[in-house]
Amino acid sequence: MSVLKKIYHLGYAVEDLDVATRFYETHFGVSPSEPEEVEEQGIRAVMFPVGESMIELVEPTRPDSPVGKFIEKRGQGFHHVAFQVEDLRAALRDLKADGVELIDEEPRIGAGGYRMAFLHPQGAFGVLTELVELPKSG
Ligand code: CO
Repeated sequence: MSVLKKIYHLGYAVEDLDVATRFYETHFGVSPSEPEEVEEQGIRAVMFPVGESMIELVEPTRPDSPVGKFIEKRGQGFHHVAFQVEDLRAALRDLKADGVELIDEEPRIGAGGYRMAFLHPQGAFGVLTELVELPKSG
């Protein structure tokens, strides 16, 4: 059985969060969340649902943050995929045991207050891959 439950979100790196948010509001009628700043990652982010998944628009708050460097090097565009998993700590432990390259060996708190961790894109065919564990309901 796959540990990947669903695509939780796709992350797009954008230079101007407000402009990008307005684009999706205006042309696609989406309902974005309020912008949220994650100081540790140097980002401001907005999420909006598309069916069962979400799009996360990510703007760097400083040029030397990972997303800032990404835009400088590769321009705006697709940045990462986030998969929902049931047990993030167990998933990271298994990946590490398999020799998969991780950016975060321990879960940290990302946008939305959820536990998340990044795998290294070099070990995942060039795609920055995020794993997210949602709080258990109830
Ligand atoms: Co994300």
